[in-house]
Amino acid sequence: MAKARVYVTRLLPAAGMDRILAETEAVVWEGEMPPPKEEILRQVASCEGLVCLLTDPIDAEVMDAAPHLKVIAQMAVGYDNIDIPAATERGIPVGNTPGVLTETTADMAWTLLMATARRVGDGQQYVRDGKWQTWGPMTLLGPDLYGATLGIVGMGRIGVAVARRAQGFNMRILYTNLFPVPEADLLGASQVEMDTLLAESDFISLHCALTPETTHLIGAAELRKMKPGALLINTSRGPVVDQDALTEALQAGVIAGAGLDVTDPEPIDPNHPLVHMENVIVLPHIASASIGTRNKMAELTADNLLAGLRGERLPNPVNPEVYERG
Ligand code: DGY
Repeated sequence: MAKARVYVTRLLPAAGMDRILAETEAVVWEGEMPPPKEEILRQVASCEGLVCLLTDPIDAEVMDAAPHLKVIAQMAVGYDNIDIPAATERGIPVGNTPGVLTETTADMAWTLLMATARRVGDGQQYVRDGKWQTWGPMTLLGPDLYGATLGIVGMGRIGVAVARRAQGFNMRILYTNLFPVPEADLLGASQVEMDTLLAESDFISLHCALTPETTHLIGAAELRKMKPGALLINTSRGPVVDQDALTEALQAGVIAGAGLDVTDPEPIDPNHPLVHMENVIVLPHIASASIGTRNKMAELTADNLLAGLRGERLPNPVNPEVYERG
């Protein structure tokens, strides 16, 4: 039987790529940068499967250009780059990669929390600049994490994993979420209103999906409600924070610092003020970037793709409604 034709928008880690290459007739975009939209539109015309990344805008136009498309498999847990209602309307299941990146992403949120609080980037720059002359009682001071209050916005899998880490630091944990999360409550976390979380947290870590409701969830008003010494950590999606408002708040000393794995847009302009502030760490969206996790994400992507091509239910569908349409 002829193998299904699949378009893959970037080279994936071998754990998934090798299976896709063995089991399908795959065309792989080998560039380091994402393929241009015109290229995606051209390639999907004859494809039954599409493997994409969070950098690829997969909208109704792409879907309409792909009359044979049976499945979209995204190598990420987030899928705000895909028009899910459009896929559902067209009966196309979309798969993502939840679960496998939870701990790795929580590790990075924690890394940013510690590095920002204890001024790791700033300290390294200080040494590189030759400013380290002696041990100083007031040099590069930062707040303690131990015993402080952590506010977690969005208590999904990653939020819970961050709360577990916070337990080891004897932190008081507050969270906001659309519904109560018993697992978080068992960790001693308390669900509160956003205003309470903003006012009482020493550190705030964002773990919500990007939706119309969470776009600019943290803006000028929210930043003003935070403690002046507070730090904001974002490993979710850049647009959850109003970046101009954050820049102004940091410049004016409204909050003390930020650790950002995600920005708006990505990549951030290297001349953007946030990139050059001593109290800000900006990383290039690498929270899930461990070797093991990226391999697992690629494997799950292949699982979703191959199930979709066989006409089976995807192991991780984000729009299971497609299976209820009869
Ligand atoms: C995701 O999976 O959504 C992350 O942002 C990248 O791993």
